[in-house]
Amino acid sequence: TWTPGSIIDEQVARIREQVGEAHVICALSGGVDSSVAAALVHKAVGDQLTCIFVDHGLLRAGEREQVEEDYAKGMGIRVITVDESERFLTALAGVSEPEEKRKIIGREFIRSFEAAQRRVIEEVGATGAEIKFLVQGTLYPDVVESGGGEGAANIKSHHNVGGLPEDLKFDLVEPLRTLFKDEVRAIGRELGVPEKIVARQPFPGPGLGIRIIGEVTKERLDILRAADLIAREELTAAGLDETIWQCPVVLLADVRSVGVQGDGRTYGHPIVLRPVSSEDAMTADWTRLPYDVLARISTRITNSVEDVNRVVLDVTSKPPATIEWE
Ligand code: XMP
Repeated sequence: TWTPGSIIDEQVARIREQVGEAHVICALSGGVDSSVAAALVHKAVGDQLTCIFVDHGLLRAGEREQVEEDYAKGMGIRVITVDESERFLTALAGVSEPEEKRKIIGREFIRSFEAAQRRVIEEVGATGAEIKFLVQGTLYPDVVESGGGEGAANIKSHHNVGGLPEDLKFDLVEPLRTLFKDEVRAIGRELGVPEKIVARQPFPGPGLGIRIIGEVTKERLDILRAADLIAREELTAAGLDETIWQCPVVLLADVRSVGVQGDGRTYGHPIVLRPVSSEDAMTADWTRLPYDVLARISTRITNSVEDVNRVVLDVTSKPPATIEWE
């Protein structure tokens, strides 16, 4: 029978066999998947693991600080943070096509880890040749949706599967590759990962980069971050975090509509709210949020977020729409 404990034992043995005495680095994103993958590898090989947190500049407000707090202090795992936001912004300049964005973000992620190796070598005292493995929190649905599963169509290239560069220098350790999210959460709890992390809603690796419809720029990221923070604050205040699976907040940067704000006409961008209910992200329904919560989010966003004069609600299930807009 499959229990969290038996999956952990099996994966720990498998990781030890794969890794041996080598050093391992982990692509920490702050999400449930990479945290649980890191906790599993930490259980298997302890101090041979160093986590690297890439700040790609596509994070939500407060995320970097939270990750540093939760892992380093909360879980006793070694975490090195690298600020690569300029690298990602430069690579994404002029790009609007979703698959191209995803591939660029995936590629720059891996490049960032390679660059971060120097930091690991300095801080851990390992040689470059000893760092052979990269942990990723790839789940079964990621594999299927990237065309890796049997008979699966290639729907989107998830950054941690399809977007890998050909000159990848690491062997991958992917202990969650056969699991669904609820199983990953159960394993995380069994491993003692803080509830705060285990219960966290999914957030895609490419971050806000795939929630700006159009080119990604620093100004647009700031607009989206402000709107996203308001939506998250109101959903949490209304006690809805456990009701919804996740609520992407999307900036339609290439769309403008007319508004009237203060005593003048505006020509601003719409923000889309995409609250969904789901079991495993393979299918989803739109969450029927209370009207008063929607009203508060809309009022606060249009009152305080520059350049946004309209808030719209996405009422589409998956299928036909995916959860993310790109
Ligand atoms: P879609 O949009 O395909 O999303 O319905 C399904 C789930 O996957 C998340 N997602 C990603 N997670 N890397 C990730 O780690 C990605 O590239 C990626 N794209 C989508 C999405 O937030 C949802 O939970």
